[in-house]
Amino acid sequence: MNTQAGPTPDHIMQVGLSFWASKALLSAVEMGVFTELANGPESFDNLAGRLGLHHRSARDFLDTLVALGFLQRSNGTYSNTRETDLFLDRRKPSYLGGILEMANARLFGFWNHLTEALRTGRPQNEAKDASGESPFEALYAEPARLKEFLAAMSGISHGANMAIAQKVSWAKYKTFADVGTAQGDLAVQIALANPHLKGIGFDLAQVGPTFEEYAQSKGLNGRLSFQPGDFFTEPLPKVDVLTMGHILHDWNLDEKKMLIGKAYEALNPGGALVVYDAIIDDDRSKNTFGLLMSLNMLVETPGGYDYTGGECIGWMKAAGFRDAYVEHLVGPDSMVVGFK
Ligand SMILES: C[S@@+](CC[C@H](N)C(=O)[O-])C[C@H]1O[C@@H](n2cnc3c(N)ncnc32)[C@H](O)[C@@H]1O
Repeated sequence: MNTQAGPTPDHIMQVGLSFWASKALLSAVEMGVFTELANGPESFDNLAGRLGLHHRSARDFLDTLVALGFLQRSNGTYSNTRETDLFLDRRKPSYLGGILEMANARLFGFWNHLTEALRTGRPQNEAKDASGESPFEALYAEPARLKEFLAAMSGISHGANMAIAQKVSWAKYKTFADVGTAQGDLAVQIALANPHLKGIGFDLAQVGPTFEEYAQSKGLNGRLSFQPGDFFTEPLPKVDVLTMGHILHDWNLDEKKMLIGKAYEALNPGGALVVYDAIIDDDRSKNTFGLLMSLNMLVETPGGYDYTGGECIGWMKAAGFRDAYVEHLVGPDSMVVGFK
């Protein structure tokens, strides 16, 4: 018997056509399938009717979601799985669909131009035709897009934010600032888990109202405040700990080093810089998500890219930080911590 299995095309085909599954899920989130079913199980006719599905598509679409493990079907009645009920019902605070809504509305189309980005090195998003403009200016030009993006950031960052709130030795410190805070979920999680700390959310002025609304909704407006500022032109807040979540990967090498240098200048003596991203493994062969995220930065920014833990430690050391280390957070995310 031949025990040596020959090569099969399965993996190639699975990855090559994985956009089918991806878009089916993104459309389900867009149409509110999981929010609808959070009210309780529904018959095929009711569900298809409420979602406005065409009779040609309805059965295949809903059963595809069953086969993908996002819905359950029993005696012709459809319901959410535990995961989709918790994470994809828009009305729950645990909703993580913001990032998928953004992926659907923006990234899915931009990634269609990946080949052009690979050849030209140029972004393929709203900033494509606006040469030299910060990617955030183009993104924030429309208030609805701004809100969608900020909420999406909370979705993608929440698990890592909760881990950082636990894993950093916060007891040693009194103050912190989250640089490029977006809606402020990292600041919120740190403040909730560490009642002795006072924190600042630092970001472009347009972000202020969204940060303040979110901090207030968590009862933290007494301990968290917003500081408007541009980290290219202004100093960072003077605090014990500075955090930067998904910031360094937005920018080119000089900009990355400049931000780390600015953090060193601003920190109180003994303070710490906590950087986190989907940090790529030093061998650049395992963290697929981190590598794909770096390609996403190619599509989204003029010079951004993701980096390995070793590279980040090197930049921190060059800026003056000591004892820098990498620690895994959740999923593809790790943090790099350095001390002043
Ligand atoms: C990719 S998001 C990361 C958000 C959040 N830290 C997280 O991990 O979920 C980048 C953030 O940097 C902010 N940002 C971009 N340019 C900035 C600048 N020049 N000064 C301050 N903040 C900036 C954006 O507004 C945005 O909130």
